[in-house]
Amino acid sequence: MLTNKRILLIVPGGIAAYKSLELARQLRGAGARVRAILTAAGAKFVTPLSLAAITGEKVYADLFSLTDESEMGHIRLAREADLVVVSPATADILAKMAQGLASDLATTTLLATDRPVLVAPAMNVQMWEHAATKANMETLAGRGIMVVGPGEGDLACGEVGVGRLAEVDDILAAISGFFAARAPLRGRRAIVTSGPTFEPLDPVRFIGNRSSGKQGHAIAAALAELGARTTLISGPVAEPDPAGVEITRIETALEMRAAVKRALPAEIAVLAAAVADWRVQAPATEKIKKDGRGAPRLDLVENPDILAEISRPGDARPALVIGFAADTEDVLANGVAKRKAKGCDWIVANDVSPGTGVFGGDQNTVHLIRPDGTEDWPPMAKSAVAARLAEAIANHFSAAP
Ligand code: CTP
Repeated sequence: MLTNKRILLIVPGGIAAYKSLELARQLRGAGARVRAILTAAGAKFVTPLSLAAITGEKVYADLFSLTDESEMGHIRLAREADLVVVSPATADILAKMAQGLASDLATTTLLATDRPVLVAPAMNVQMWEHAATKANMETLAGRGIMVVGPGEGDLACGEVGVGRLAEVDDILAAISGFFAARAPLRGRRAIVTSGPTFEPLDPVRFIGNRSSGKQGHAIAAALAELGARTTLISGPVAEPDPAGVEITRIETALEMRAAVKRALPAEIAVLAAAVADWRVQAPATEKIKKDGRGAPRLDLVENPDILAEISRPGDARPALVIGFAADTEDVLANGVAKRKAKGCDWIVANDVSPGTGVFGGDQNTVHLIRPDGTEDWPPMAKSAVAARLAEAIANHFSAAP
């Protein structure tokens, strides 16, 4: 459940801080990648060394450390996590979170993060029941902060009551539950194609195109994030491998087609690759030389249309086939026509005119064309297009299981 999930664990100063070591150990055991921030007070209870040894990562502590900031700025720290967990969430850090204070690395990161946050409160019973803490918890709940615990029992201060840090197993269960709820595509298989294809002329030359694979790779990552078992079939690109995705690397359209067939059956197919329409009929087996008889003649043959093939009715047809239509004019009309011509279910149509910077860039402006109409999405990052498309796919399956 937690494979490759990125957890940012914030450890403030409380007696129960030592339990965060066990939490980090179990999170890693479950496949998560854990980065930790230790507050100055937290460091009075556990050492940075023990946290670093258990997480296998550098422990971050100081907002004003030049080395830390250059290696991993606090904004990146705040954003490169799937979930932020604060354990033990002391009365002090909860108050700072409610107030929006940014007085150290932990609170600054909590203010800068756009990721979901789970807190595991732990404090003396009077502190927990104080009107100030109650008001803070209400404020935090109103902002969507998730809470696990606190439990009831003997407290470190010698009193008895509510305020004990939730058991590590319960914190783990809350974390797993969070990811399970966000995995509506669990149990479904997805195939994504991405990048260009290269069609050889001879052993060193090829016909290719400028597709960067950014959009296709982001879609594969977004589908995996929602729990789909995702196979990404990619042409030659410089994009890093997305987490949690099985990758098949190919070069030519024929190889891509074979890889797609091998990856079937799947319920979802998103064909985002810029497949070369033609290939050289008989690529030279040796490098073509300038032999004084002028330019060589290249006979081209049409490549199979993978999207049209996979869209054909039959047992192996994925329940939802999505194609891309990249055009430089009449984007919408061409997209609507392409959906019909190819027989796919949805088309993501976008304008790739040179001025738009879509090819190779990070932004994309798309229209989602479905049988019942078209949605025009505002310009957004390719990762945001991917997340929104994955969400639309999940909604499609939850509406018609
Ligand atoms: N596609 C495919 N196999 C091909 C060609 C295209 O699977 N041999 C898929 C692409 O991955 C994309 C869609 O089909 O999802 C794009 O269709 P295509 O007809 O190639 O679009 P363009 O080349 O943009 O259109 P046109 O040829 O009409 O200019």
